[in-house]
Amino acid sequence: MTTLLRISNVSKEYKMDGVVFQALDNVSLSIKKGEFVAIMGPSGSGKSTLMHIIGCLDRPTSGKVYIEEHDIFTADDAELAEIRNTHIGFVFQQFNLLRKTSAISNVELPLVYAKVSPKERKERARAMLIEVGLSEKMGNFPSQLSGGQQQRVAIARALVTKPSIILADEPTGNLDSKSGRDIMTIFQNLHDKGSTIVLVTHDEDVAHHAKRVVRIADGKIISDGKPSKRT
Ligand SMILES: Nc1ncnc2c1ncn2[C@@H]1O[C@H](COP(=O)(O)OP(=O)(O)OP(=O)(O)O)[C@@H](O)[C@H]1O
Ligand SMILES: [Mg+2]
Repeated sequence: MTTLLRISNVSKEYKMDGVVFQALDNVSLSIKKGEFVAIMGPSGSGKSTLMHIIGCLDRPTSGKVYIEEHDIFTADDAELAEIRNTHIGFVFQQFNLLRKTSAISNVELPLVYAKVSPKERKERARAMLIEVGLSEKMGNFPSQLSGGQQQRVAIARALVTKPSIILADEPTGNLDSKSGRDIMTIFQNLHDKGSTIVLVTHDEDVAHHAKRVVRIADGKIISDGKPSKRT
């Protein structure tokens, strides 16, 4: 299978008041097309930092990041934004929807940046919202949607550009268990249809949807393999 994403010897340092904090320490990881990977680890271990680097939202202090054939280290900010827009679909724990914008317009937004025509934008956003089960709620603002519905809008927004990789940072973290399971069913279906998914979670049940679990502690990968057996 093709390697979609490769990072090698990636470190990330944060400097605060002259003190350097090593959030990622020499991390290497490679993800192939069609994989479903869960990232787990204690709070503060560097999971979100890693996701931001994989998702081209941030740059490493040192090390190499490749998304398909693109070398992130040498890309300038405009190229980075372009790579992000065409290859990455990001789903956040806090949904990150525009508050004063309807569900459908939120989903259309990445297509505005991608300069897709208004007509095609509407059609694609509509189709995505139907796919996540929100055909009745397209005109609702985020405040008029439940948490689970808001996260489904966010997933539709992440998918509407047909990204090569879907990144989700604790997508069920702010949801009740039923909404969380509905969201995981969507990810499971996406995976079954061939999508590449990297998902951060604290929840072993959520991680069981993945075929591979990468565990991080103190900015280092401490294990990488199949999910542990359910007890
Ligand atoms: N912008 C920043 N400046 C300084 N330190 C930061 C910054 N962002 C993150 N850190 C530190 O880096 C470490 C890793 O943070 P990160 O957000 O990646 O953790 P996490 O594994 O996602 O934790 P959680 O499970 O709580 O979301 C933490 O100790 C955090 O305080
Ligand atoms: Mg985090």
